[in-house]
Amino acid sequence: MKKIPVQLAHRSYQILVGEGLIDRLGAVLPPAAVSGRRAAYCLSFPVIWKRFGPKVKRALAQQGYTVRSRLVPDTERSKSLSVATAVFKDLAAYDSKQAAFIIALGGGVIGDLAGFVASTYRRGIPYVQVPTTLLAQVDSSIGGKTGVDLPEGKNLVGTFYQPRLVVSDVAALSSLPARQMRSGLAEVIKYAVLAGGGLFAFLEKHLQDVLRYDRASLEAVVGACARIKAGIVSRDEQEEKSLRTHLNFGHTIGHAIESAAGYRRYTHGEAVALGMLCACDISRALGLTGADAGLKIEGLIRQSGLPVVIKGLNAAQIIAAHYHDKKFSGAENRFVLVRDIGRTAIVKNVPLPVIAAAVKNRLST
Ligand SMILES: NC(=O)c1ccc[n+]([C@@H]2O[C@H](COP(=O)([O-])OP(=O)(O)OC[C@H]3O[C@@H](n4cnc5c(N)ncnc54)[C@H](O)[C@@H]3O)[C@@H](O)[C@H]2O)c1
Ligand SMILES: [Zn+2]
Repeated sequence: MKKIPVQLAHRSYQILVGEGLIDRLGAVLPPAAVSGRRAAYCLSFPVIWKRFGPKVKRALAQQGYTVRSRLVPDTERSKSLSVATAVFKDLAAYDSKQAAFIIALGGGVIGDLAGFVASTYRRGIPYVQVPTTLLAQVDSSIGGKTGVDLPEGKNLVGTFYQPRLVVSDVAALSSLPARQMRSGLAEVIKYAVLAGGGLFAFLEKHLQDVLRYDRASLEAVVGACARIKAGIVSRDEQEEKSLRTHLNFGHTIGHAIESAAGYRRYTHGEAVALGMLCACDISRALGLTGADAGLKIEGLIRQSGLPVVIKGLNAAQIIAAHYHDKKFSGAENRFVLVRDIGRTAIVKNVPLPVIAAAVKNRLST
């Protein structure tokens, strides 16, 4: 088992990465981490609870915890104020008898919702992330961004609120559908580009092992990504410096593609893969990098089975979605671009024709 610290100014916590950790959840959860609370309130999706719930209950009961589960529909729409309200009420009934802490058992949807509820209920109660998707293990469970969506946009209501512990059991990924696995891999490739060095080389060698769910390879990859994200979050907890911004590599155009496609055709990771390719093309057009870095990144994206061309959308739709987003947030356009593997740069106000050319270059003909 790997133990990765996230060192923050006011409270530090650990990320545990290993195999079979859900079976030992009670044992790996130090009571002090949840301020001595003994009542676990587990938020999950029905399919995930069916698969892992009995193990979670057993593992926690063995250490004297009481457990209540609350299941919400398996969809992004559960990240809403109405679902959060229903959870608040249910939690209040449970918590009136004994002080509760929350366990988020699931992917990023459950993690973001559980974190949001934990951060606002009684002005904040402890929560533990038990991520079960690759995306959640390498990204969303770490760093304390919580939130729900509004009809006006994704993640518009939320908080920074750090978990007390993250327990990433790579064995849980065995049942993850291949498309979800590939989607998480897009974030993994993102980290490899940001950090360079060992992780990029590991992926070039072992991507196929990861794609066949080899647990040792998964543990290595999840551990490496968790370490990178923990390092960034430790230095820039609330995105006040530009460090955390680098994590948005591939996300500027990625978000525009997701939104232009109505969040249906592409998963987040697929859109991010396309966004990373556009960012590479922009980097080249602006003279920040030669062809090499982009080709290496595209190689990993292709090998992962992620898309390399944009289908079902035109450039105008993507550009409109991008500018709608900017207008809405009042922000100037800001891209994370590539100088080399392991060296990214934040560039503001990229000219529209350069963005449009990169997007057009990726459209399927
Ligand atoms: N807070 C952050 O920093 C952050 C970062 C990135 C993404 N996010 C958010 O994360 C969400 C996406 O997360 P996601 O990709 O994990 O999606 P998700 O939570 O919807 O899970 C994807 C699907 O996988 C299934 N699943 C989960 N674990 C499984 C398992 N072990 N076996 C079989 N099936 C399993 C789920 O039932 C679901 O249908 C978005 O809402 C996004 O905004 C948050
Ligand atoms: Zn992402």
